[in-house]
Parts: sequence; structure tokens; C-alpha cells
Amino acid sequence: MTSIDVDKIRMDFPILSTKQNGKPLVYLDSASTSQKPLSVIEAVGDYYRTYNSNIHRGIYKISVKSTEAYQRSKELAAKLINADSYEDMIYCRNTTDAINIAALSYAEPLIEKGDHILITEMEHHSNIVPWMMLARRKGAILDHSRLLDKSFVDMEDFRAKLELKPKMVAFTHASNVLGTINDAKSMTKMAHEYGATVLLDGAQSVPHMKVDVKSIDCDFLAFSSHKMLGPSGIGILYGKGDLLEKITPAIVGSDMIRSVTFESAEWNELPWKFESGTPNIEGGIGFGAAIEYLEGIGMDSIRNHDLELTGYALKRLSEVDGIRLYGPGEKDLSKRVGAISFGMEGAHPHDIATVLDSEGIAVRAGHHCAMPLVNSVLKQPAVTRMSFYLYNKKEEIDLAVDALEKVKKVLRIGA
Ligand SMILES: Cc1ncc(COP(=O)(O)O)c(C=O)c1O
Repeated sequence: MTSIDVDKIRMDFPILSTKQNGKPLVYLDSASTSQKPLSVIEAVGDYYRTYNSNIHRGIYKISVKSTEAYQRSKELAAKLINADSYEDMIYCRNTTDAINIAALSYAEPLIEKGDHILITEMEHHSNIVPWMMLARRKGAILDHSRLLDKSFVDMEDFRAKLELKPKMVAFTHASNVLGTINDAKSMTKMAHEYGATVLLDGAQSVPHMKVDVKSIDCDFLAFSSHKMLGPSGIGILYGKGDLLEKITPAIVGSDMIRSVTFESAEWNELPWKFESGTPNIEGGIGFGAAIEYLEGIGMDSIRNHDLELTGYALKRLSEVDGIRLYGPGEKDLSKRVGAISFGMEGAHPHDIATVLDSEGIAVRAGHHCAMPLVNSVLKQPAVTRMSFYLYNKKEEIDLAVDALEKVKKVLRIGA
């Protein structure tokens, strides 16, 4: 039994009643980016139509209104992840940007020659390359923790790598390829025992489940608005207040400065000291509307729906001959989000995605910006992925599974 009214929810998403290639759109690519409800579209439109103005600058009415709306969205975001205050929420462009800010502003002065930084084998490029570049600049060593069963972080190996005393540990909360949810709380606790600072990549977890930064105790959390019903071009780096206070921002100028002379500058208070220049105001306002929408449905209900769809899709896909599923199986459903990668014997993932597209079904094929995982661990050039959100229905999974039979016919698999 689904606990949310999907048909009602779908009416809030205008794109879901469009047709693609003459067929109703079946959108199964929300891990890449989510669709947007009318309330978000309206919030952005309303800002442009009725109070477009810069924040923190004007003493006139519409500027005060935009400042308040922008700040209110940070308060909503802080509440969503149980942060102490909106002051701990730094707006940036996306998860990638957030991780880069942490690497450049926090870790850059911390990491020295010979130091270790630890990530895992299931990271998105966004949580590999900033650390790789930092390690290269500093002569530090980037370690990665291996996977067990091509699905889970091998905790013995994770501990062995922690013995090397990494100063920084960065890992994803949920994998965009495997769907695996890492035990962020235990991993953070272990990393802290060895004295590391922990950055959690929440790009695939914050949109789909309750993420509580106090309970997990991570030092930083990065996530993107566009994957959780909000506009693109805006994301969040959450950081513990005392850490953020100590950091000197890497990108400087404009609104992040309290006072400046030709010789020195004093930074603005948190969180503004990290937000140089005019920010993505409409993005922040739209993000606030997205969080309100998600909270209106309830993160627990969204998670239940995700589990229901994922369990159903794993079962249906496993019934298709020649399909190989990646990531945790049905018995480990609770350790998964709704992103399911698979391969089909005799079919390239791009061909699968192309045939599905001809049926109006949008899935993603490729390395999913996780090349070390896809190429070296799964040993595939690419995989096909379907991913779900609160607006998806079981019937859409059925359509996608039926379309896989069409792939076989078109490619003459088994003929
Ligand atoms: C786990 C993970 N981390 C980071 C990112 C990067 O997110 P963005 O493109 O919003 O910066 C993604 C995007 O798919 C992701 O899935």
C-alpha cells in the first residue's frame, strides 16, 4: 500500500502530462535531476514578476521582501536536515560546488605533504576529483575504501584505511549508481575516532529520506536543489558552525565582506561570508518552495514510496531474461534508494536508453559520473539506470520493463 497519493501529486507536475515521441512521458531519471512542481515554478515566477531585486542591499520594500524570502529558504533547509541554524547553510551552485568549497576553503590549509584523504570506491566524480586535485597540490595521498559484493563499503577495509589517519574522510550517503545507502552515522563515528573531519555527499540521500546532521554528526553535508524538486544552479554546503567560523573563504568579494580597505578585509558573519557576489536569489526562493512541498508530503512517506517502487522494480527487472542488476538486492531493500542500475546481455546501455526513449521513457545510460565504480568495480563501460521519485507509479515501471522486451526485439537478442 502506497502511503502517498501519487495521482494527486502528479497533477502538481505539469511536465508529467506531456508526451515525448508521441507517448506519455515516463520520467525515470530523477537521480539525475528531478521534475518541478507548480509551487516551485510559481515561486520563481512570482519573484521575477513582483519583487525582483537584489538581497541585502536595498532599504526599499521589494528588496526587503527578496532578502526575507531568500533567508527563509535557508531556515527551511536548516530545519529539513536538523541543523542548528540557517547560519550553517552556505548556498552555492550544487553538490559539486559545495564539495569544492569544503576542499578549497577548509581542507586546503589543513592538508600537508604526506597526509591521507579517504574516500570510497562508490563516489561520484564530484567527490573524487576535488580531493584528487587537493592531494596533488599538497603531495598528499588519496586513499579509497574498497567495496564488498560490488555493493557495500567494506568496513574492515574502511577501518584499515582509517588507521592511516586521514585528516579528511569524504563519502557518499547514497550511491547514484548502486543505490546503496551507507551507514553514515557509524562511518562518521569511526572516522572521528581517528581524528578525521567528515564530509558527507548527500546528493542522493537528502531528496529521498530524513537526513539528520546532528544524529549523523558529519562535519559537512553537500546537496543540490535540482535533485529535490528545486531549481538548478543552487545547492548547499552545510557545515558545523564552529568549523565554518574558523574557515577563511577561498572566493572573496562583494556581499561576503563586512569592511575593506586597500590593506585588509573583514568577513561578513555566517553564512554570508561564504557567498561572494549576488547569489542565485530566485534559485534560493524556489528551493525554499521545494522544501515546503517535500515537507508537506513528509520525508518518511517519500522514503516509504521510494522503497515500495524500488522493491517492485527489483522484482520486475529480475524476471526479465538477460538482465543483470547492480547494487543491493531485494533482501537488502532497506539499504537502498530508488536508483537501480542494470545491464542487459547483448545490448549496449545507450541502445537500451534509445529504444526506451522511443516509448517516451527517460532513463539514463553511461558511467553516471562514477567511472572508477562503473569501469573498475562493476567492470562495465556503462550501465542503464532507472531512478524514481515521489511522482512515479508502479505502472511506469511496468511500461519500462515491457519496453525492455522491445529492446530485445529491436536488437534481435535471442533471435
Ligand atoms: C552522489 C552524487 N554526488 C554528487 C553529484 C553531483 O551533483 P551536482 O551535479 O548537482 O553537483 C551527484 C549527481 O548526480 C551525485 O549523484
